[in-house]
Amino acid sequence: MKKIDKNLPIGVFDSGFGGLCVLKELTEFFPSESFIYFGDNQNAPYGNKSKKELKRLSINALNHLKAKGVKAVVIACNTLSTNLYKYIKEKARVPVIKTLPPKSKDKRDCLICTVNTANSKYVKRHFKGIVLSSESLAKNIEENVFSLDGIDLSYLTSQIPLTTKRIILGCTHYHYLLDRIKKLTNLLVIDGYCGVKFTLYKKLKKHKLFSLQKNGNVTFVGESSQLNSKVYYSVLCKKDESGQEF
Ligand code: DGL
Repeated sequence: MKKIDKNLPIGVFDSGFGGLCVLKELTEFFPSESFIYFGDNQNAPYGNKSKKELKRLSINALNHLKAKGVKAVVIACNTLSTNLYKYIKEKARVPVIKTLPPKSKDKRDCLICTVNTANSKYVKRHFKGIVLSSESLAKNIEENVFSLDGIDLSYLTSQIPLTTKRIILGCTHYHYLLDRIKKLTNLLVIDGYCGVKFTLYKKLKKHKLFSLQKNGNVTFVGESSQLNSKVYYSVLCKKDESGQEF
C-alpha cells in the first residue's frame, strides 16, 4: 500500500440510504475526520443481486470515491461486506472497513437481513440463531424513506420465534425501523453496524491515518438522484446544510 495522505476524507458507501446511519455515527465518533458518501439509490436494492452485478456496482462506487481521493473506505452495507469484502479490499488500495452483524452462538438470537447476507458464508458460519431474510424490505425502505411508518412489518414480525431474546438488524437500511420493530415485538433490538466505528478506529491507528484537521466535513458524490442522500442525511441529523440545528 503506498503512502496515504492522512488529511484525505474517508469514503463511505452503500446501495442507498442505509449507510447514512453509519455515516452519522462515524461523524459523531470522529469529529476531526471528513467523509465522502456514495449511496447507489439508482441501483438499490443490492440484497437480491448476483455477485457479478454486485462486483460491477462496487467498482462503480469505488470509482466515485477514489475520484475525490479517500484514505480509507467503509462498506456501510452488510450485503457487500459479507459477500465481497476481499474483492473490494483488493480493488480499493486503501484500508477497507466492513459492516458485519455480530457473531452469535446463541440460538435465541434472531438476525434479520437481506437474502444475500443470509446466504453468505459469514452468516452460515458465525450465526447460530434464527436468520430471517427479506427480499423486499430494503427496497421498501429505499422507496418510502420519508414515510417509514406506512411500511407493513407484520409478515416479518410474525416469523420471529417466541423463544427469541434478541433481534439483530443485519442490514443498515433496517436501522430506520428499529424503534418500530422494538415496539411491535417487545424485544431487545440492536443494530448490526455498532462495531464499525471501533474497527475504523483500529484501522486508522494501525495505518497512522488520523486526520490532523480540527473539524471534519461531509460531502456527497454521485449522480443527481443521489443528492437524495444529502437531503435524508440532514433529516437524520436534524441539521441543515450549514450545520444549523432544526
Ligand atoms: N443496506 C445494505 C445492507 O446492509 C443493502 C440493502 C439492499 O440494498 O438490499 O445489506
